[in-house]
Amino acid sequence: MLASPDVAVIRPPARLRGELRLPGDKSISHRALLFALLAEGPSHIDGAGDGRDVRATAGVCAALGATVERLASAEGSAAGSPTGSGEGSPTGSGEGTRNVGYRIASPGLAALGEPDGPLDCMNSGTTFRLSAGIVAAAGIFAVLDGDGSLRGRPMGRVAAPLAAMGATIAGRRGATLPPLAISSTRPLRAITYETPVPSAQVKSCVLLAGLGADGTTIVREALLTRDHTERMLRARGVDVRTDVAQDGSASHSVVGLARVKARDEQVPGDISGAAFWLVAGAAHPDAELTLRGVGTNPSRRAIIDLLRRMGADIVERPAGDAAATGTGEPLADLIVRSSVLRGLDIGPDEVAAAIDEIPVLCLAAAAATGTTRIRGIGELRHKESDRVAGIADGLRALGAHVDVEGDEIVIEGGRMLAGATVATNDDHRLAMTFAIAGLLARGETHVTEPSVADVSYPGFFAELERVRA
Ligand code: S3P
Repeated sequence: MLASPDVAVIRPPARLRGELRLPGDKSISHRALLFALLAEGPSHIDGAGDGRDVRATAGVCAALGATVERLASAEGSAAGSPTGSGEGSPTGSGEGTRNVGYRIASPGLAALGEPDGPLDCMNSGTTFRLSAGIVAAAGIFAVLDGDGSLRGRPMGRVAAPLAAMGATIAGRRGATLPPLAISSTRPLRAITYETPVPSAQVKSCVLLAGLGADGTTIVREALLTRDHTERMLRARGVDVRTDVAQDGSASHSVVGLARVKARDEQVPGDISGAAFWLVAGAAHPDAELTLRGVGTNPSRRAIIDLLRRMGADIVERPAGDAAATGTGEPLADLIVRSSVLRGLDIGPDEVAAAIDEIPVLCLAAAAATGTTRIRGIGELRHKESDRVAGIADGLRALGAHVDVEGDEIVIEGGRMLAGATVATNDDHRLAMTFAIAGLLARGETHVTEPSVADVSYPGFFAELERVRA
């Protein structure tokens, strides 16, 4: 790979080999920090991802009154202020995956302070939506804001339930776009809320606000979305109950004004980061990659099962006791080898559990034989970029046959991809998807703005270099 700050040039290697440690799971890292903020006393988090999104959450915790100490980890060199100093290099300074620890001492939810200025959630929807619930529960005033991408993302989906619970919310376009100004008085009103779209961020926002409500708050969702909030709150002693019905819908309740316990947690490797290597390993003709300590939570692992259904050779070995991590999250080592992939029909009920992995799954589909149809992908238009347009444009530039009709994408596999210049639209998951495409395509693939990978996976491009054999 050749590198310049604003383009990465990738050529296909003869072989892919290696053992990788993933960044700490982004969803779990956010929650570990935010739930430590809710607890009174010291919590220690090990193995947190060091992407820009998680740093944004650390900054929010500090702004709301916690003492946040960022610690070097065994693998990493980063330490110091909550949000760290400087950004990682775009295409890798030779540094591999970097995780960090945090020591957080908080006064607890009921004693959080009004921040001096806007809370900068940067590119992170999870930081924004979960913090909105916490600010409302804390009974304080805060303004939440972010970068240009975040300012275009729908926030009415959290403003509406928080307003129903008694918070006062103002924001752009009738409080549907950031920045949002939130103020409330404790206790909030407990509500029963049905999420309008399957969204773990919306569910989590309402459950977190429920911690500041008098009574039991209930969230119903048509499909079970990632359940890290429920597991991790339970691990911190909060009474969160979940019922999953036969049809896959779920109902969660939380009893308000409960105490959240401080505790120590170990963050598992990010399955969404692992997904890139699973596709690379399965689709490359001569590959064997071992991924250590990957989180395999049943509500997040769909990418493993979908790729297996496409024919991927993925061996899974349990790698530790879920209870011992402090988060209640299961882990496994994954070994992926070259496979013959075939197309698959994927329905909306399966999309929710693989929402962040759909772009790289589309790449797997392009490398497979036969047709892949993925239905119900509308939510992908509301991510860090419009990922439906971004993946379709990028794969077409690489020579794949892609059709988008409404909320459905159809990919005809069986064509050899050919290197081209692909735009990432400043979206980390698109940048990494197209970089993996560069390992599979003939010729040179040019990925624009590769430094955006640092949002979730600092060191990604250095790892890409390392596994070429
Ligand atoms: C996340 C939930 C998902 C996902 C995002 C992380 C979370 O978003 O896309 O990357 O940590 O709860 P939605 O809840 O908006 O689907």
